Amino acid sequence: MTDPNALPNRHIKSRQRIADHGEVFTAQREVRAMIELVNDEAARIDSRFLEPACGTGNFLAEILSRKLRVVYERYRSSPLEYERYAILALTSIYGIDILPDNVDECRQRLYSIWDAAYSTALGTKAKDEARASARFILSKNILWGDALSLRMPGGNDASPIVFSEWSAVNGSLLKRRDFELAYLLEPVRQLAMFSDENQPAHIAEPVREYPLVHYLNIAQQE
Ligand SMILES: C[S@@+](CC[C@H](N)C(=O)[O-])C[C@H]1O[C@@H](n2cnc3c(N)ncnc32)[C@H](O)[C@@H]1O
Repeated sequence: MTDPNALPNRHIKSRQRIADHGEVFTAQREVRAMIELVNDEAARIDSRFLEPACGTGNFLAEILSRKLRVVYERYRSSPLEYERYAILALTSIYGIDILPDNVDECRQRLYSIWDAAYSTALGTKAKDEARASARFILSKNILWGDALSLRMPGGNDASPIVFSEWSAVNGSLLKRRDFELAYLLEPVRQLAMFSDENQPAHIAEPVREYPLVHYLNIAQQE
């Protein structure tokens, strides 16, 4: 069986893709060394990470694995708590790539890591609704787009990249609010969503807000 967290052995896919998109993947040793520098954050279950040219998710895969390890260490004796925190860990992982096949590969890879950990921890108590929520979160958090223009594909009519912020409320409920990435990256607003200080210095305005929903039902909300 292949290890879903293993980095591709190849660091390149083709010369053309290097020329067109600078596509060279970071080796696992370097990924781990870099994440180690921010391990306190990487191991915090709800600490948000954005990889703006994520490729197939080399950094996100390592961060997700570290978060899931913490979830397992803390909550393995309580299936419900494990499930809730494993979902929360996934909600905090964000990526953008300009090549759609990389986006697909990245989502699939992160899902495989998540599902392997979830299925091992919960065994027969694992639920397909939780798996559907995990896939839905990845479809919103790992996006096909241009991290320079901050827009989705589509030439002059391209719409802005919009990310969902997921916040746990009262245990099992999730609050989803959508924000334009360009808005979040304005210097005065950087603290809003990808803050490592957790201080809402500015009130961020979402482009859309959703009602509170149980984490097992988020895929039905759209
Ligand atoms: C150097 S690779 C790095 C991939 C991954 N972060 C890693 O370290 O293994 C660069 C990636 O950036 C993507 N890319 C290039 N230009 C981009 C842009 N303007 N917006 C988003 N992604 C871009 C490429 O498709 C490629 O997957």
